[in-house]
Amino acid sequence: MTQLAQLEFVKADKLKEKPDPSTLQFGKVFTDYMFEMDYDIEEGGWHNPTIKPFSPLSLSPASFVFHYGQAVFEGLKAYKQADGTIVIFRPEKHIARLNTSNERLCIPKVDEKLALEALVQLIELESDWVPEKEGTSLYIRPFIISVEPYLGVRPSYHYKFMIILSPVGAYYADGQLNPVKIFVEDEFVRAVKGGVGHVKTPGNYAASLLAQEHAQKKGYEQVLWLDGKENKYIEEVGSMNIFFKINGEIYTPKLNGSILSGVTRDSVIELVKDWGVPLHEERIAIEDIFEAHQKGLLEEVFGTGTAAVISPVGELRWEDKVITINNNETGEFAKKLYDTITGIQYGKLEDTFNWVK
Ligand code: COI
Repeated sequence: MTQLAQLEFVKADKLKEKPDPSTLQFGKVFTDYMFEMDYDIEEGGWHNPTIKPFSPLSLSPASFVFHYGQAVFEGLKAYKQADGTIVIFRPEKHIARLNTSNERLCIPKVDEKLALEALVQLIELESDWVPEKEGTSLYIRPFIISVEPYLGVRPSYHYKFMIILSPVGAYYADGQLNPVKIFVEDEFVRAVKGGVGHVKTPGNYAASLLAQEHAQKKGYEQVLWLDGKENKYIEEVGSMNIFFKINGEIYTPKLNGSILSGVTRDSVIELVKDWGVPLHEERIAIEDIFEAHQKGLLEEVFGTGTAAVISPVGELRWEDKVITINNNETGEFAKKLYDTITGIQYGKLEDTFNWVK
């Protein structure tokens, strides 16, 4: 018997009204139910899987997570396809990454089959919350927090694994891929090799906020992160992975221990290889990108992530040098990738990679 056979269900007294799909933003509205499971060392591990009404938590102010940030999370999406089928995009890969993050943060691993089952059951229960409108989806946020009331520094003995759901709108208000302006960050760093940049833990995002704030004051939407050692090699863009199209070939920074192994990054790599376009995963120096631009070879730059899927970059500023990419227009390659990935997600294209579940 799996632990989930003992799943407890607590029914909500009253269900919420569903939002108007045309007004959906990112991560502001939450569904009626959530999943919760506890870890207690005295109980022998993860136990008490429960689906219950979405509600505030009651935690000790001394909970470990508030002080030392021992926590991990994931972000994935469910889609309603044209025939009404609800699918989840690459859930196993996200759950596997959750455990990679757990390992780095000294959090006990979750049973991946159980986590997938919990996710599927919660989404089946909340199927009416998966919006239908093109570009919308149900964002799934699994996360684990350390909840032991303890101020000493060692891994917590108690945790909560939760999954909450949020119907979200198209990332771009007009449904178009709008190129963004990016500031190459030369003061702050996101992560270093040996740190936690390669996993999904809240501290990475907290540490990125100040640079983003500075960039926005200068009129840029996001920053491009360089490596923490030499301030020379490209890592990520905002909270996304980054790709370059140079002279017909695709380049992306090689995973190096400080870059997050993005699921959309992986999907783009699989597509590029499938299309027979040369793909290079390697160390990329920022000066080489500016040089490629000077030679007229830099054709496209785009970020990849679950939230936006593909996000074209129209302008890059590095120190006092500013370059415009592809006339600040969405490139054909970025558009083709976006159309293909979203086509598979919404069931308009055949899922030859077996990505949707
Ligand atoms: C993504 O999905 O691209 C992200 O990582 C952003 C998310 C943390 C909101």
